[in-house]
Amino acid sequence: MHLTKEEERLLESDTPATRKAMELLVELGDIYGAEEMVEIESAQASGISYKSIGDPGVEFLEGFAEEGAEVSVTTFANPAGMDFEQYEEMGVSEEFAEKQRRIRDALKEMGITLSFTCTPYLAGNLPHRGQHVAWAESSAVSFVNSVVGAKTNREGGPSALAAAITGRTPKHGLHLEENRRPTHRIDVDVDLDDQSEFAALGSWAGRIVEDGKPYFTGIDAATTDELKALGAAMAASGAVALHFVEGVTTDMEPPEHVDSATFGAGEREEEHAKLNDGEDPELVVIGCPHCSPEEIADVAEAVEGETLESDLWVCTSGAVKTWADRNGHTETIEAAGGQVLADTCNVVSPIEELGYETSATDSAKAANYLPGFGNQQVVFDDKRSLVEGVIEDE
Ligand code: F3S
Repeated sequence: MHLTKEEERLLESDTPATRKAMELLVELGDIYGAEEMVEIESAQASGISYKSIGDPGVEFLEGFAEEGAEVSVTTFANPAGMDFEQYEEMGVSEEFAEKQRRIRDALKEMGITLSFTCTPYLAGNLPHRGQHVAWAESSAVSFVNSVVGAKTNREGGPSALAAAITGRTPKHGLHLEENRRPTHRIDVDVDLDDQSEFAALGSWAGRIVEDGKPYFTGIDAATTDELKALGAAMAASGAVALHFVEGVTTDMEPPEHVDSATFGAGEREEEHAKLNDGEDPELVVIGCPHCSPEEIADVAEAVEGETLESDLWVCTSGAVKTWADRNGHTETIEAAGGQVLADTCNVVSPIEELGYETSATDSAKAANYLPGFGNQQVVFDDKRSLVEGVIEDE
């Protein structure tokens, strides 16, 4: 791979962390056949939850910070295993909290913004079309590639951190225009009535196209929240990092000579059934990916003046929670017995240790991960139905 003088200098840096970061990127570039590096505008660091990385991860991050690791571009952190201010209310143990705080402190030492969110584009880190970035969380990768038009591969935790430190990443995959073309066509032949139906479509499509780049027809309009649900689901059931929605995210003509499939009413019902394997949830979680202000307002409206018979978590970033606090939504949700949690979600928190066995979600991504990663049975439905389903009868 061709390296610039600056990149050669980074490879020989006196700072061990910088040297190691550059060595990793050169190795990855060689593996993927990259001819050169590309400079990035921002990064997103994942592998932040103590549940995911355990003691070896804590020690690695602390050691890396001690070796002088320092990010050189705006870098946001993915969700952690707990809300740093409300972990006791969540039921998270002090031992877990202590480890999670050590991770937070190491990230801070490196200069990473302590955003702890998977929707950084709603919370202050929004790239623009054509910018190269190195993001790691799969739903955020999908969103910035597909909706925003920025360019990123689906980075792993270490490669995103290395990119954040050096300010560059090997130029291959989705950084190259020739790799950003549709590989499949999906014709949607049914109305998508709410966000969970976009999620169900994504979950179905992800299994079909795997790591392909689907082009959807038949979707006349979609909100930002619906697009984030669609992308998150495809990134979980498959490994989709880029998709196209005709007339919504792209003006490109539909692709010809590619595999195609149709999503109709039957597929929609079947996917809903596939994502559901539980009943009577002890916990309802809204906010995968992390909630927008509109989604929190919607939940607050549904529970206003009511009492909930199950626990309710509304997960979001600290930035969006601040707005929910100011608008009174947090107070409304808490008065009904729910919680608005920042920094975390039901997948990366130690949910299986908190006494929950069945959780409800409107996210196909969470429904895909919770059985294996959280030992949960899952109820999948739209946000309103889930929340209204656990309101106590008068
Ligand atoms: Fe975000 Fe957690 Fe879902 S990180 S995309 S809320 S699994």
